[in-house]
Amino acid sequence: MKSVLRQYSGQCVAVAVVLAIGSSTLLAPWALGADSAGPHGSIYTVHNESGMARTINVAGFPVVAESNPFFLDLGVNGRRCVTCHEPTNNMSVSAAGLRARFEATDGTDPIFRTNDGSNSPLADVSTLEARRTAYSMLLTKGLIRVGISIPANAEFELLSVHDPYGYAGNNANGNELSLFRRPLPSTNLVFLSTVMWDGRETFQKGSSAAIHFDLVDQANSATRGHAQAPSPIDQATRDAIFAYETTLYTAQVFDRTAGDLSAAGAQGGPETLSLQPFMFGGNDPLGCNASGANCDPQNATFNPIVFTEFDAWASLTRTGRNRARAAIARGQDLFNTLPIRITNVSGINDDFNAPVVVGSCTTCHDTPHAGDHSAPAPLNIGIADPPVGADGLNASGLAIGDMPVYTLRNKTTGEIKVVTDPGRALITGKWKDVGRFKGPILRGLAGRAPYFHNGSAATLAHAVKFYDTRFNLNLTEQQKDDLIAFLRSL
Ligand code: HEC
Ligand code: HEC
Repeated sequence: MKSVLRQYSGQCVAVAVVLAIGSSTLLAPWALGADSAGPHGSIYTVHNESGMARTINVAGFPVVAESNPFFLDLGVNGRRCVTCHEPTNNMSVSAAGLRARFEATDGTDPIFRTNDGSNSPLADVSTLEARRTAYSMLLTKGLIRVGISIPANAEFELLSVHDPYGYAGNNANGNELSLFRRPLPSTNLVFLSTVMWDGRETFQKGSSAAIHFDLVDQANSATRGHAQAPSPIDQATRDAIFAYETTLYTAQVFDRTAGDLSAAGAQGGPETLSLQPFMFGGNDPLGCNASGANCDPQNATFNPIVFTEFDAWASLTRTGRNRARAAIARGQDLFNTLPIRITNVSGINDDFNAPVVVGSCTTCHDTPHAGDHSAPAPLNIGIADPPVGADGLNASGLAIGDMPVYTLRNKTTGEIKVVTDPGRALITGKWKDVGRFKGPILRGLAGRAPYFHNGSAATLAHAVKFYDTRFNLNLTEQQKDDLIAFLRSL
C-alpha cells in the first residue's frame, strides 16, 4: 500500500492507493480509500457521482480498525457489519456498489445470503442466473429483507397480501411479513434519537446512556440476525463495536462543480460536523422537549435554520465555480425556509389535530447540522403507499411495483389501510403507526443511493421530485437543481 498525492480537479487530495501484488497482499475491499494520515487517525476518502465523501474516526482507531469486531466475522454465514455498512458507500451500501460486488463474485459475496439478502429465504440460488433473480431487490435498490410479524395484541390484522416472492405473510415463520429496507448508515450516530427505520431498537429515551444501551443491543441483534450467529455476542464485543461506530463522522468533502466544500468560509465535511453538539429533543418543533415529560408544542423553541454550512457562499457572484457555490447556498436556504403546507402526514396532522401545518423541510429534519429528527417522531409521508397503476408508481410517483403490498384491517372499526410496509405499527401494534418511519440523518447522501426506507427514490433528483409532487411545492427547475446541489453537498 502506497500513499500518493492525486490531482483532482485542481485540488490536492491525499489518497491511499491499494496495490494488489499477488493474493497474499490483497486487501479487504473496505480498505480502499483508507488513509492513516488523517488528523484523527484513520480516514476514508471515496469518490462518488458528485465528487468525494470522507469518513473520519475521531477516536483515532488504527487504519480500517480491522481488529475491531465491526470488521470481524462473528456469525456463521461470512457476514460482518462492514458487509452492509461499507466505508466506500458512506457506511451503508449502494445499489450500484452491490451490482459490482455481484459481478465480481458471481453473486457469492457474503451479502448475497438467503436469510435476508434474497427476496425470499426459499429462493433458488443454485446458478448464476437464479441468483440474479433471487437477489433482485438487493441488486436494483440495495434492499435487505427484514422479517417481522404483526404483534398478537395489535389493533389490526392482515386481511390480504400481494406477494410477488412467495414469502410475505402466510409462511412457515410465524406469519412474518417481508419488509424490504435500506441499511441505514452506521455513522454520524451521535446525532441519533431513534435507532432503525421503525425505532425498534430504541428502548430508552433522551441520554447518552440510552443510545449506548440501544446500540449495543442493536450490535447483538444484527449479529444474531444478519450474520446468523447461534448465540449472543459478549458485552466486550458489543462495547467494542459501539466504541468504533459512534466515533465515525461522514460527509461530502468535494463537489465536482463547487470544489472543496469547506473553502471560502463554507463548513462542509466531517471535521466540522464532528464538533457539532447534539441535544436529544433539541430544536424539535413537534413538541417533545428534551425532558420528554412535556410534549406541548408551545414550549418548544424551534429555529428552522437547521443547516448553516454554506452561509458564506450566499453572497458569491454567479460566475465560474462561485456559480455552483451560490446554487448550494440557495438550496440550503430553500431547505431551511421554503414554506411547505404539510397535510395528510400521519404523526403530524392527525396527532396534533391540525389539517394543515405550514412548515419547511426542517419541521421534520430538525436536528441542527445532521437533519434527522431530534426526538423519536415516526411519520407517514407516503413512502409506503401502494402502487396506483400498472406502471408500479404510487400516488407520489415513487417506483414500488416490485414490493409486496399488505392490506390491513382495523380490528375494531373495520377500516382498511394498504401499505408496502406497516413500519412502526409492527413494533407498537397501533393502527395510527401504520406506514410511519423515522426521518434519517441527511449527511453523506451522495454515494449511497437509492433513498427512503424502501429505496424508492433512485437519485436525489427523484427524492426532490417526490416532495414537489407530494406537497404541491410547484418548484421551478432552478429550485429543484439548487435543492439537489445542496443535498449532494451534505
Ligand atoms: C445484511 C446486512 C446488514 C448487516 C450484516 C448489518 N447491518 Fe446494520 N443495518 C442493516 C439494515 C437493513 C438496517 C436498517 C433496518 C431497519 O431499520 O429495519 C441496519 C441498521 C443499522 C443501524 C441503525 C442506524 C440508524 O440510523 O438507526 C446500525 C447502528 C447498524 N445497522 C449497525 C450494524 C452493526 C454494528 C452490525 C454488525 C454487528 C450490522 N449493522 C450488520 C443491514 C445490515
Ligand atoms: C412532513 C415531514 C417531512 C418533511 C416536510 C420533509 N421530510 Fe424528508 N423525510 C421525512 C421522513 C419521515 C423521511 C423517511 C421516510 C421513509 O423513508 O419512509 C424522510 C427522508 C428524506 C430523504 C431520504 C434520506 C435517506 O437516507 O434515504 C431525503 C433526501 C429528504 N427526506 C429530503 C427532504 C427535503 C429536501 C425536504 C423538503 C423539500 C424534506 N425532506 C421534507 C420527513 C419529512
